[in-house]
Amino acid sequence: MKLYSKLAACLFSVAIISCGDGKKEKKEEKFQYEQEQTSTKTSGAEESQNNVVITANDMMKFSKNEIKVKAGEKVTITLKHVGKLDKKVMGHNLVILKADADLVDFATAATSAVNNEYIPEGTDAVIAHTKLIGGGESDTITFDAPAAGTYTFLCSFPGHFAAMQGKFIVE
Ligand code: CU
Repeated sequence: MKLYSKLAACLFSVAIISCGDGKKEKKEEKFQYEQEQTSTKTSGAEESQNNVVITANDMMKFSKNEIKVKAGEKVTITLKHVGKLDKKVMGHNLVILKADADLVDFATAATSAVNNEYIPEGTDAVIAHTKLIGGGESDTITFDAPAAGTYTFLCSFPGHFAAMQGKFIVE
């Protein structure tokens, strides 16, 4: 009986030790990963980080739901419509909203801006937007990255924003 409890205590302590080690290893791995991330960012990869290519298709989908860029630099975004449908039926754009803009309010106002490529005229809710494009077309925009923070991007073609939106993160 004594032997059993000793054995149990021993096993217990082994479990604690190995568990602790596992956590430590994970932490170290994470740290290394973060360091690698940082070093790729600083080793001349600025071009690719702030030079973003995103596609949209006939299935009403963007290829990304998150765009991350560096603050204090220019951002270039290329939107490519890889579908076949005309912009009148499956038009796409990419609109980045200011932090205080309301997504649903904006998307609702956009639906009536038919003659302005679904960008409400005189709106002050937009940081940057591409033009409206159809299948096979593309558009590239360049603008100054806004202050660090998380913004929303969407396609403002009527009925698209629910499926076509994502986070534009400036860090
Ligand atoms: Cu769209």
